[in-house]
Amino acid sequence: MAAELPIPVYTSLTDVLGDLQTASVQASRWNDVVEEFEKRFGKKPAYIARAPGRVNLIGDHIDYVLFGCLPAAVEQDILFACGPSSQASAGSVAAHNLNPKFAPQNFTPMLKSAPIPSATEQKEAEKAVNAESWDLDINTKELRWESYVKAGYYGVLNHFFPPSSNERPVPIDILVTGSVPAGSGLSSSAAMVVASTLSFLAVNNKLGELTKGQLVEMAMENEQRVGVNSGGMDQAASVISMPSSALYITFFPFLHAEPILLPVLRTNPRAVFVCANSLVVSDKAVGAKTRYNLRVVETLAGARILARHLNVPLQPTERPPLRIVLGRWLGYTETKGQPSELDTDKLKDGLKKVLAEVEKLRPAGRADGEELGLTMEEMIKESGLDKKTFYEVYLSWVEVEATHFQIYKRVKHVFEESLRVIEFRAACLRAADAAQTPDGALPESVLRELGDLMDTSHESSSKTLENSCPEVDELVRIAKEAGAYGSRVTGAGWGGCTVSLVAEDKVDAFIEHLVAHYPAYKGLEGEALKQVIFATKPSSGACVLKLE
Ligand code: GLA
Repeated sequence: MAAELPIPVYTSLTDVLGDLQTASVQASRWNDVVEEFEKRFGKKPAYIARAPGRVNLIGDHIDYVLFGCLPAAVEQDILFACGPSSQASAGSVAAHNLNPKFAPQNFTPMLKSAPIPSATEQKEAEKAVNAESWDLDINTKELRWESYVKAGYYGVLNHFFPPSSNERPVPIDILVTGSVPAGSGLSSSAAMVVASTLSFLAVNNKLGELTKGQLVEMAMENEQRVGVNSGGMDQAASVISMPSSALYITFFPFLHAEPILLPVLRTNPRAVFVCANSLVVSDKAVGAKTRYNLRVVETLAGARILARHLNVPLQPTERPPLRIVLGRWLGYTETKGQPSELDTDKLKDGLKKVLAEVEKLRPAGRADGEELGLTMEEMIKESGLDKKTFYEVYLSWVEVEATHFQIYKRVKHVFEESLRVIEFRAACLRAADAAQTPDGALPESVLRELGDLMDTSHESSSKTLENSCPEVDELVRIAKEAGAYGSRVTGAGWGGCTVSLVAEDKVDAFIEHLVAHYPAYKGLEGEALKQVIFATKPSSGACVLKLE
């Protein structure tokens, strides 16, 4: 299984990038980072850790409630050149960035007697017994590039250098460069955290001790330290992806990643996924309390309110996400870490069944266009908990701000989007089978089906989950006008990129149409244009290049 494989360590760039052609195009970037490292630190790096960004084809804002999504890694990536430093103090870090916008930073982990902040309940128990813990002083109020380097370091410190042991991390020099545009919905943050985690593992000689799945879990926990309660899609895509495939990633009862060959890239008529950056920069750590983290709270509170309607008993202090409430309602045995009885077909039926129940969450007597959200008081009342317990369980660990909590709309999006992911996966599998037939032709109806699912997904993002913005909606509209089979916002949203399914022989005309009609693309050409619109080539997941 993909998640159980070891983290790849290569000694040649061709192996890292999969083929000679890509290696020769990319080689200069890798050489530049090695040369610059040598200039800055006086010796060659020992390793380069690579972690790609990702594009999510379908299934947004459902990973943190533990439903499956379908991303693929992109070629754009983050590179961390790194090596042990000759500095005296144990574990100290000199982190430089090739981009002059990001000033060099030096920091050293300190042992503090106060416990480190931790996002999950399970960790509460650990806190109590940890008299001392590592502290790297991440500033969650301000967006700082080195926070992602520090976030990667935390997991390595906590897992491999417990304060009680005598082993201490080695000092390290790091030089970072990246081609994943920040705030573009292509997950530069997860790529930063994964590459950072890999660097600290490599230099401390711990790479062999983790599987890819364990690295994903560590990177997820690490990224939450930057202040966003994100799910695991980005980290899993960055670590586990394989060339020519998307990954169907499920999170419950355990992390599972199934490579889905993308037949659209291989058969006739061929089609490709094209990313287009709206150029509205949207970093999920910025404004998290009214956007990303608010969606997390709305869907968690929604799970409790739905459970009440479905007569699924919950303990007052537990906080199960929607996927778990659904499983319990359907009566399947599902214990974390154990295989589930709920396979994809049963899950699909269950989602259809529960969608009929979701209407019960719609506030009575309110028409479309009227306020469908609940005030804090209404939400607490609907949850069946007393005010104190509700705050403790749902609000004490996260900062959110809203006058109305859109329980009905968010829960509806989650179940409908999860169903679309299952249908998208099934269509890809059917198309892959068709490709095995003697003529190998992919019926165009499959492309239309995939496209329709992408369109309804965007509609839901725009109106029900409300994580789009006018510019992204406009870009999607223009993409459809330009002949895309389907088009949607990808990733966290509120800006960033769209992903569109486009017939390969129409890609040039598609790009021309976008440039002519999307105002922010006016005058863009050559390299500048290629940076904002590009056909994605599903790339391989994260790895480490060991230099001699
Ligand atoms: C961000 C998060 C992911 C996921 C997406 C939306 O990228 O990091 O975990 O929730 O948003 O699908």
